[in-house]
Amino acid sequence: MNNGLEDVVAAETVLSDVDGEAGRLIIRGHPLEALAGRWTFEQVMHLLFGGFFDDLPDSERLAARLGQARADAFERAGPLLPLLAELPVYDAMRAALAPMPDGLALDEALRLVAVPAVLIPALLRQAAGQDLIAPDPARGHADDVVRMLGRDTGGAALDAYLVTVSDHGLNASTFAARVVASTQAGLTSAVLAGLGALKGPLHGGAPGPVIEMLDAIAAEGDARAWIDRALNRGERLMGFGHRIYRVRDPRADALKAALHTLDRVGGRLQFAEQVERVALVALRQRKQSRVIETNVEFYTALLLEAVGFPKESFTGVFAMGRVVGWIAHAREQALTGRLIRPKSIYIEEGRARAA
Ligand code: ACO
Repeated sequence: MNNGLEDVVAAETVLSDVDGEAGRLIIRGHPLEALAGRWTFEQVMHLLFGGFFDDLPDSERLAARLGQARADAFERAGPLLPLLAELPVYDAMRAALAPMPDGLALDEALRLVAVPAVLIPALLRQAAGQDLIAPDPARGHADDVVRMLGRDTGGAALDAYLVTVSDHGLNASTFAARVVASTQAGLTSAVLAGLGALKGPLHGGAPGPVIEMLDAIAAEGDARAWIDRALNRGERLMGFGHRIYRVRDPRADALKAALHTLDRVGGRLQFAEQVERVALVALRQRKQSRVIETNVEFYTALLLEAVGFPKESFTGVFAMGRVVGWIAHAREQALTGRLIRPKSIYIEEGRARAA
């Protein structure tokens, strides 16, 4: 039995490769460094969707259709928004996606990409008692999200972020999406499975707690003492460690580069880098048998905070980027894979577990 399925190969994919020893991420033939900050999110979506939809237009037309899908999503969301007001942002976004048509067409895929991008800014502005800002279909996707949030800068940094998190091998949420797609269910079902898996703090739920950790350390003024206490309590430091990477997560560096393009971030970034150094020393001293390095979530937290997202929305913004990976994997699984159905070992209650 392999409890966490480490080293189990459960799919063949053309979409991305995570080399944990070299600290390298390849997205459909391109190293992450060649994409983040250079390609737009829409171009990477086009790259990922290639071959999985018969009617995929060229990249520019696809971007225009995504713009139109944002406008449609905003119109449909209107009556729904007050009903979602009581829910946490992530749960509200999931609820808004759940009733969508569950087919396999490109328009349905684009709607699944558009809804989180439109819903998250709208829910945040509604919660703050502010007027909603309608999407501008002619703008770039990330730029438009930032504008709907009520900000006039940060689009390029968000674009680099969405590209950075667009796909990442057979991570927990992508695997969940592929399991659902392997039953020949539709794209909405696959995306909802991905959303469910992404929510947990061991996966996409870590960046909010990263901000809480940084704020607590700033209030206390002694990073090492705070970190030692947390580790003594058996807690994990959010934003560190990874199942696959045994060296630094390359996405952390891509995001750090994007952070440097933003104003007003200097002091916070310096402080976070200082905390990062202290945390890495503490983890190295205590967990000598395990390489624990900074992961994507540490700099995600700083970047999304600097763009203007509150911490309760961070996991939803992660989903805004990863949704294109889930959709591409779901199509790939349905087209080339088999029903995913592993086995379990039955342990009679009261009897010892198999070694
Ligand atoms: N802080 C403290 N200790 C840690 C951390 C951490 N962040 N990460 C791993 N460890 C320790 C574990 O306690 C364990 O120690 P032990 O052997 O003394 O019990 C050892 O390292 C191995 O841990 P595992 O849970 O086996 O490692 P796994 O490969 O399952 O961990 C995971 C990966 C879940 C991401 C883990 O590193 C973690 O919990 N990190 C914190 C949460 C986080 O940052 N999540 C975001 C991940 S990135 C993403 O999904 C997009």
